[in-house]
Amino acid sequence: MKTRHRCQRLTDPIHEIKRYDTRDNALTADSVTPVYSPPMRSSFSIGQMCFTTPIILAPMAGYTDLSFRLQARALGGLGLAHTEMLSPRSFLVGKAKKVAQLLATTPDDKPLSYQIYGHEPAIMADGAKWLQDRGAELIDINMGCPQRKIAKRGAGAGLLNTPGDAITLAGKVVSAVSIPVTAKIRLVPDGTETSTPELVRELELAGVAAVTVHARTCAQMFTGHSNWDAIREAVEAVKSIPVIGNGDIHSPADAVAMMKETGCSAVMLGRTALKDPWLLRNCAAALGNTEELPPPSRDERLAFMLNHLDRMTLQYGEVAAPLLFRKWIPLYAKPLRIPRPLMVHILRLKNPDEVRSELKALARTGQSA
Ligand SMILES: Cc1cc2nc3c(=O)[nH]c(=O)nc-3n(C[C@H](O)[C@H](O)[C@H](O)COP(=O)(O)O)c2cc1C
Repeated sequence: MKTRHRCQRLTDPIHEIKRYDTRDNALTADSVTPVYSPPMRSSFSIGQMCFTTPIILAPMAGYTDLSFRLQARALGGLGLAHTEMLSPRSFLVGKAKKVAQLLATTPDDKPLSYQIYGHEPAIMADGAKWLQDRGAELIDINMGCPQRKIAKRGAGAGLLNTPGDAITLAGKVVSAVSIPVTAKIRLVPDGTETSTPELVRELELAGVAAVTVHARTCAQMFTGHSNWDAIREAVEAVKSIPVIGNGDIHSPADAVAMMKETGCSAVMLGRTALKDPWLLRNCAAALGNTEELPPPSRDERLAFMLNHLDRMTLQYGEVAAPLLFRKWIPLYAKPLRIPRPLMVHILRLKNPDEVRSELKALARTGQSA
């Protein structure tokens, strides 16, 4: 199959992004939270790759794009981030324009794992090789997406219904590349011939270098409590690879508790990290047994939003960025206590400069702080 796309590399390393001081609308570095590098309690590695903290940002379609990853990295504490899930078919046949944005990265956007999904071992293997040839250092196989259109084809969480296929697929991908390959699973449904710990062990035997266990079943989607006992059972099942725990980490105390209760080697944060990306550094601090930094001030939160919008404008352009940024506003807005009518107004704006002015005005007035 011919390949047409190359991994897009944008030229906006972190230091080129403007620093907002919303107190006087000047652009200085003063209001930006310093990057925090906590001493590590324990090292974390996948294959030959070492990570400065055992804190992992989950792959989240529609959210963990280049812009957000760089924003999260700039706050410190993040050991490893993931792309949104990628269909190898889309980049191998080179037809999807959108895939260029999904693949977009910069030299600052490291360490990074590229997550792929699909049910055809040969395509998945070709996709992994294609990514490796373009600089990928880590590949993750999605075995947990519960979306009907994906799972019913036997991809994502669909692979858990036929664990034999999941293991064959993983083995093919592992054989196709020389970089580490990991898998992100959910809990295997009851009544399947293989249990979750057995699947994790089989994946290890197939050459997978780490397994993330999102401790919910496919049927649970994103509701209910995650079952941390299942993470512990996975940890007990493997011989030498790390198990990464995922599900329901809402605070640094949760991150510590998950590692303590399950013995997992690292923790992955999903939804809470979208609303509160400062949680990543505070989890790293808690695991490194050092003091957390104080919570971000209102100005820091607003500066973070402005930076995020700037990055999205660089990545997607003036027209698309404000539309794509809309989904972030309600996520960031709660601690800012933006009044609802103002929020509705901001959500209707189509020009990034208009959004910027509203955010800066909020900082100036300290509205409803
Ligand atoms: C909006 C959204 C998009 C997601 N996209 C992906 C994805 O592309 N690949 C994946 O493996 N998991 C995906 N997930 C699942 C998360 O990676 C994570 O496993 C899940 O949210 C549980 O972690 P949490 O309880 O910390 O949120 C997604 C979750 C959400 C909420």
